[in-house]
Amino acid sequence: MQCSVCGKEAVINLPAYHKALCSEHFVQWYYEKTKHFTKKLTRPGDRIALAVSGGKDSIALALFFNEYRKELDVDPFLFHIDLGIPDYSKVARRYVEKLSSELGMELFVYDLKKETGKALVDLRRGSRPPCSACGIIKRYLMNKVPRELGADSLATGHNLDDQVENFFKNWTSQHFDWLAKQKPFLPGEHPKLLPKIKPLFERTEEENMAYVKYNGFELPTFRCPFSHRQRSKWRLIADEIESRNPGFKLSVVKALENFDYPVGVTGLRECSICGEPTSQDVCSFCKIIGKTTQP
Ligand code: AMP
Ligand code: FES
Ligand code: ZN
Ligand code: ZN
Repeated sequence: MQCSVCGKEAVINLPAYHKALCSEHFVQWYYEKTKHFTKKLTRPGDRIALAVSGGKDSIALALFFNEYRKELDVDPFLFHIDLGIPDYSKVARRYVEKLSSELGMELFVYDLKKETGKALVDLRRGSRPPCSACGIIKRYLMNKVPRELGADSLATGHNLDDQVENFFKNWTSQHFDWLAKQKPFLPGEHPKLLPKIKPLFERTEEENMAYVKYNGFELPTFRCPFSHRQRSKWRLIADEIESRNPGFKLSVVKALENFDYPVGVTGLRECSICGEPTSQDVCSFCKIIGKTTQP
């Protein structure tokens, strides 16, 4: 396999784009593609919180923004939530701290145990897996903390493969309101909701891994002990269609970008305990944490 630009040995094949690239031209191609996409999601002067878990996607996000900030007038900083998960959170946090010092990019860490007295494992919702509480906690904190730190928007590392998998799940279970949220840009529908951006919406997991690797960064090998080791059936099905019809996944995310499903206004109000936006009287975060009074 030869690089479509210079003819040197290619390190990645990109059949959806009818090309293969060497490491140097791949890094350039990834940056230019992501820059073109991100320009539609950011404004000059924006202070952007980059939500970094320590996984390959969010590291690629930080590496991309490290270049983007040199070229465009934006002010990114790293935001990490330490969930206190044994054998995982400490390693992830150390990795993010190292990333911050190597890139010279500001980092804010929210330590769940220190701030609330409870780590994720203390917050199980009945017999449900910890991931159920984790999703609620992360969504809440990724909005509240960066907003209080003066961010104009929050960027996450959601990739193309995540979007395609969620598309199958949301479509077949008729969760059209969730489908409507599968967008690279979500405006804040309440003064306390930060706009959310997904700059890696069209980037595959493989591209993100390659971008980390060919930027000379170590690929993380740690993973949350609660995450599934096996790929979901939807991921396997999407991979199979992609292998027979390169570009299929890209066409799904492009359709999501252009799809406008009418969702009813959710009627957001403020939580009677913490004051954060919610559709209920007490928000899910306060319920999980067991907060009953204002701090
Ligand atoms: P996940 O829901 O784990 O697939 O993560 C989706 C995105 O949420 C990641 O790409 C990150 O941008 C963000 N994220 C997940 N976990 C954390 C964390 N512990 N701290 C900060 N951001 C996170
Ligand atoms: Fe949330 Fe694993 S990171 S349960
Ligand atoms: Zn080349
Ligand atoms: Zn609340």
